[in-house]
Amino acid sequence: MNILILNGPNLNMIGIREPEVYGYKTYSDLEDYLNGLKSKYSIKLDIKQSNLEGILIDLLHYGNDRFDGVILNAGAFTHYSYALYDAIKSIQIPVVEVHLSDITKREEFRKISVIKDACVTSIMGLGFQSYEEGIKFLLKEGINK
Ligand code: DQA
Repeated sequence: MNILILNGPNLNMIGIREPEVYGYKTYSDLEDYLNGLKSKYSIKLDIKQSNLEGILIDLLHYGNDRFDGVILNAGAFTHYSYALYDAIKSIQIPVVEVHLSDITKREEFRKISVIKDACVTSIMGLGFQSYEEGIKFLLKEGINK
């Protein structure tokens, strides 16, 4: 299985931004953690991050016939980007929504995910492990969207 990991705005700043929420591990630690999962699950991973909505949309389109599934942490776009919702609906491969924090237990504006209904499942609140649970979900039942 070939999985695209897509990280949205400000995720490059973890370790520095709001450590009381996101912890002290950096984006490079996240990449190392994810790369460590390749051999554990015998999968291929491509890890991308962008702060730009349009680039995330382009990467979703690009991924459609090149990957078997996507793990998407859309950052704050989660809460208002109908364009990302449409992009997820535009592709055939399954997209798993993930978050480091539990967005249902934070500020009111974070409680809404506008991309949720376009995704096959949402996993949150487990830190880096949210991504691993997303990968496990794709391995188990991700093939049919
Ligand atoms: C986040 C939660 C979002 O609300 C926030 O804007 C982020 C990170 C998370 O991983 O917990 O940038 O997606």
